[in-house]
Amino acid sequence: MKSILDTVARWLPGTPEIAVVFGSGLGAVVEDFTALSVLPTSDIPGFPAISVSGHAGNILFGSYCGKNVLAFQGRIHLYEGHTWTEASLPAFIAVETGAGILISTNAAGGINPLLDPGDLMLIRDLLIPFPLPRRWHVPATPSSAPRTGFSGSLIDQELADVVRNLAARNGLPIRQGTYAFVTGPTYETRAEIRFLRRSGADAVGMSTLPEIHTAWKRGLKTVAISAITNVASTVPTILTHEDVKDQARLLLPRFSRLLCEIVSNL
Ligand code: HPA
Repeated sequence: MKSILDTVARWLPGTPEIAVVFGSGLGAVVEDFTALSVLPTSDIPGFPAISVSGHAGNILFGSYCGKNVLAFQGRIHLYEGHTWTEASLPAFIAVETGAGILISTNAAGGINPLLDPGDLMLIRDLLIPFPLPRRWHVPATPSSAPRTGFSGSLIDQELADVVRNLAARNGLPIRQGTYAFVTGPTYETRAEIRFLRRSGADAVGMSTLPEIHTAWKRGLKTVAISAITNVASTVPTILTHEDVKDQARLLLPRFSRLLCEIVSNL
């Protein structure tokens, strides 16, 4: 961990105000960055290999919508066999580099029948419906004291209100709901989807929770947004990662307008 943080610190050309993690198919937003510096994660000794297509495996720094932004184009997932701590690396890096806010984005399946593919959903709450295969373990770092215990929500509700109001003021439709975290590696069975619906989940995905859990523990404020790429269907359908990426590409223009609005106003 220390050598990863040191390598990023040596490369980093400025001080980020905001860090953004891009979910599957959403990383193309970095084309709008200026004064861009790119650090391929494969150049960072000890950085876990990113093997999922649609995740480029880059850490980037640049100017975006008036702010210095540190961006992660490529996530580390539990379903690739990585640990909770490895999956949380964007949050550790955001904390160490001084970014005050982490915006975490993902592709997710819609569980709530009111959510359609193409919708954006502000995550208001989290659900961990199935037992996790690994311990939730976040090692202490010297730079900030860890927070322990759960009180209320990992989601900063005041910041979520700000985002909600920004979207409304700018005529950008955004839904709100609960994100259920599952480990994968397969998409959900029909029985699991029925279970998730009854449990109060609005959307389901295989990412985001490790990094926002770690961000919360480190005192970093977080905004989390799901791009609904498919309906998690209880009738037989075959969902592929290609379908998810294709739908993410379609909603990219609306996603990037919303993200720009958030970044410039936070
Ligand atoms: N399930 C889990 N993860 C996902 C889905 C889904 O339906 N869509 C995009 N990521």
